[in-house]
Amino acid sequence: MEKLKETCQTCGDEERISEEMEELLKTLPMEKLPEGIDLYFYEGHWYPSMFIHCIIPFQQQFKAQDTDLILVSFPKSGTTWLKALAFAIANLNNYPLNESPLLATNPHVLVPFLSDAFYGKNPFLKLEDFPSPRILATHVPHSALPTSIKDSDCRVVYLCRNPLDQFISFSHFACKLSNRPFDPSFIEESFDMFCRGVSAYGPFWDHVLEYWKASRERPGKVLFLKYEDMKEDPISHLKVLAKFMGLPFSVEEESQGVIEEVLKLCSFDNLKDLEVNKNEKNRMGHPYSVFFRKGEVGDWANYLTPSMVERMNKLMEEKFAGSGLDFKFS
Ligand code: A3P
Repeated sequence: MEKLKETCQTCGDEERISEEMEELLKTLPMEKLPEGIDLYFYEGHWYPSMFIHCIIPFQQQFKAQDTDLILVSFPKSGTTWLKALAFAIANLNNYPLNESPLLATNPHVLVPFLSDAFYGKNPFLKLEDFPSPRILATHVPHSALPTSIKDSDCRVVYLCRNPLDQFISFSHFACKLSNRPFDPSFIEESFDMFCRGVSAYGPFWDHVLEYWKASRERPGKVLFLKYEDMKEDPISHLKVLAKFMGLPFSVEEESQGVIEEVLKLCSFDNLKDLEVNKNEKNRMGHPYSVFFRKGEVGDWANYLTPSMVERMNKLMEEKFAGSGLDFKFS
């Protein structure tokens, strides 16, 4: 609790949480992930301590515009990729692809997280300065989205990933940022927490199922994407994404190979090797390179034991039973 009252390391804001929030936090269940991240359980989901204080202002103050595109993901599901693709589609008429801002700017800067607009007294992001149509991102669960997102005509694209790869990707990321070794005892402890639902923005099942249901109830409003499907058939999924954004590729663009060019620009190999993503850091001092690790499906097989996989399979069967939702693991 004390930690939240200290000067924020990222924005230097000494009073980034209100008294009301401070009181609320005292009442919330809390768990610490082995990599050192404190999670608070608020209205059915676990929020990292550095973001919990953004939730209520986000819910109360964010005014969605009908033209907004909100990219939502479970962390480490390919958010960076989705941001790059959506930005490239939205800006096809603004810049030639070989002069795209993506070549010199990390996708998280071009498509910021909404939490940045509700960060203490001096938010990093001034939404009023953001040109319309806005593309913004969040990891917030569907049940916690501001009503203005649900009630307006803005569109939501949701991206998730099979839980084993998501777990491994998140663990690598968190260990790297906290300088903790990614060893078997760490994996065992954090996997157990993940399976108990304790993970950033988890439980995983609830996050995924909420958006899955929303996408089935309002398909024109919520597009549900899976990382594995995008990796397997990127062309079809890019077309689906562009159509959902109201910016379908023309026959001419298709025949000129624009889809392939967008995919190449936003590919893991291309983004990873750009100077900005190889050598620069974000405002929190985290190197952008941490967002580009392997970019593969099935890397979990290098780390998880058969009994862990069996535990996950059982959980998947139980949690997703009757939903029609499943994931590819390789
Ligand atoms: P791995 O850790 O499995 O390699 P997020 O962007 O949500 O933080 O997710 C990060 C994951 O997406 C990492 O997975 C990262 O390597 C992968 N990734 C990043 N950019 C990608 C891209 N352009 N194409 C495919 N995967 C990408």
